Amino acid sequence: MAGPSLPRRGPSPAGTNNWQGAFDWLDERVGVRTIWKTVFARAVPKTTWLYTLGSASAILALLQGITGMLLTLYYVPSPDHAYDSIQYIMNDLAFGWLIRGIHHWGATLLVITVFLHMLRTYYVGAYKYPREMTWLSGVVLLLSVMLMGFSGYLLPWNQKAYWATTVGTSIFGAVPIVGPLLMEIARGGPQVGAVTLARFYGLHIWWVPIIVLGTIGFHLYLVIKIGITSPPERSE
Ligand code: HEM
Repeated sequence: MAGPSLPRRGPSPAGTNNWQGAFDWLDERVGVRTIWKTVFARAVPKTTWLYTLGSASAILALLQGITGMLLTLYYVPSPDHAYDSIQYIMNDLAFGWLIRGIHHWGATLLVITVFLHMLRTYYVGAYKYPREMTWLSGVVLLLSVMLMGFSGYLLPWNQKAYWATTVGTSIFGAVPIVGPLLMEIARGGPQVGAVTLARFYGLHIWWVPIIVLGTIGFHLYLVIKIGITSPPERSE
């Protein structure tokens, strides 16, 4: 059955180029102008550079996603090959050292940027009404970003990675009563081994990124819906 008939726009007026025509065609069907106005051209209060830390975190997260996807093309998540595949990426693959370097340092920079962004929002009281959910979704993001760092640390499968994960997961064991069970769940067995590597790889490339993506979407939806705070001013 045909849907409701909308009044169709006529051909583009003389003088407008084909790009304009194509854009109008798309806008009429998808509403790109409204999306652009709502997301990018929305009114914001006069802010400072500190207000760019959220966007910096988003761009760094995107960069981690792109470089991480490139690394999965050569990284092999098995105890027999993980270490060698990283050596191959670093020493033989064209620009492998660059992609891995960006991913490695980007992870540290992301944690620092997200933390500074959190301090900025805390400083201006942006966790208060009506932004409680923005703050809470931020808490999920902070924990997820840290979990990304923790799960990624094991993947090079070198001595540092192995023992850091042995120590890190043994912290779960210190929880009263359920500690040993939690530690075994984290390791996938009594010791760090092949299952731990598979488990951490799964967390690192699927579970946590999906949570991060969904939560960033929700976080930014709230930022757009509610609007951001303005920096505090001295009232005379
Ligand atoms: C991957 C992590 C994160 C990304 C990509 C992100 C992104 C953003 C962006 C783009 C904004 C608007 C611009 C700005 O204020 O900088 C924002 C605002 C906000 N974020 Fe985040 N954020 C992240 C983590 C966090 C964390 C860890 C918290 C706190 C626990 C948090 C709490 C907030 C709050 C309360 C606002 C509103 C700020 C205001 O109205 O002034 N965010 N976030």
